[in-house]
Amino acid sequence: MDLLIRSVTEVLTMNPEIGDGELGTLKEVSIGFAGGRLVYLGDEKGAPSAQQEVDGRGCVALPGLVDCHTHALFAGSRADEFRRRLAGESYTAILEEGGGILSTVRATRSATDEELTAYLRTRLNGFLSRGVTTVEVKSGYGLSLKDEVRLCRLVRESDWPVEVYMTFLGAHAIPAEWRADRKGYVRCVIEEMLPAVAGLADAVDVYCDRGAFTVEEARAILSTGMKLGLHGRIHAEQVTHTGSAKLAAEMGCLSADHLEQIDAEGIAAMASAGTVGVLLPGAQLYLKDPSPPVSELREAGVALAVATDFNPGSSPVRDLMTCATLACLQMGLTVEEALLGITRHGARVLGAADRGWLGEKSAADVALFALPPGESCSAALIQYLGSHRLRAVVRGGQMVYSS
Ligand code: NIG
Ligand code: FE
Repeated sequence: MDLLIRSVTEVLTMNPEIGDGELGTLKEVSIGFAGGRLVYLGDEKGAPSAQQEVDGRGCVALPGLVDCHTHALFAGSRADEFRRRLAGESYTAILEEGGGILSTVRATRSATDEELTAYLRTRLNGFLSRGVTTVEVKSGYGLSLKDEVRLCRLVRESDWPVEVYMTFLGAHAIPAEWRADRKGYVRCVIEEMLPAVAGLADAVDVYCDRGAFTVEEARAILSTGMKLGLHGRIHAEQVTHTGSAKLAAEMGCLSADHLEQIDAEGIAAMASAGTVGVLLPGAQLYLKDPSPPVSELREAGVALAVATDFNPGSSPVRDLMTCATLACLQMGLTVEEALLGITRHGARVLGAADRGWLGEKSAADVALFALPPGESCSAALIQYLGSHRLRAVVRGGQMVYSS
């Protein structure tokens, strides 16, 4: 074997075969890798020897974490806006006067390819060093045919330190030059951008809300994108209730994300369609939004994922484990739901069937976290806010990070 993690105190396999809501907890087991695959999961005595070994005592092993919602490809700074928002100005008011997303669009358009690639690489290394091996990256700070295609290309043309899923978000905001003709912009997204990015992106997302795109515009954009073979997703029910979660369900989107303002009809529709709800506690914290109705979503049987929403405005947060803790504290998730949300359910949102769980047919990606002193159970990883220590990351059966 190439690599053996010996005697891990607790392994959460998240194996989908063991049933909904189950974490597949194993105690005191070793995990072995050969030829880029996970080939051994069992007790230490039965483990073959390996070229490289890591001591897993005092640690929890999780499938490499999955961050299924980020806006990690951007240039520029919004530090001034952060100050203004702390002083009381609203996120929406700043956007309406041409700041917010639009200020990041200006900075991103004027950055070079090399700068954007370097920024994204630095950020993705930051994800990896927090145990995340799969990251969704959205476009959406280009907002012209040329710039949106450029963002999708830059993501596709490099090898990254983590597995990247690309989502096209040309419908993120109406750019300044189209303000007087929003219909024209929607037409450009549908007729020009989508055909150009269909071979580069995995999914299409629409920001459907007051001040952004309407339900009818979202329907038209998603249906074109999905016909071109992309998975559908929606930024849904964040600022105002629009019916966008119901739309996500009706259209067979993989997820509806945010959901602070979702109603009973939207919840029922998502439950019957199997649409995953993506919770974004970083945005809730920074925007001081109310919590989504987690107990109603849970009761209806909607699967919940948790993601960072990493972006320079509403959620400058890239620590997924911290977001899992915040989802428990602010939104009312259980520890188990939070752990599923950053692994198996996150992968479901990306249509990544081999990710977010551990077994012989899964991706060979593992995040090994040291437990806080005196602790012996994975719940402590969620309990201690932001204080988890990453011991090792295995990606594709190879150790890519250790400390
Ligand atoms: O998910 N809601 C729209 N888009 C992002 C915000 C991006 C930004 O502020 O730059 C979000 O919250
Ligand atoms: Fe977002």
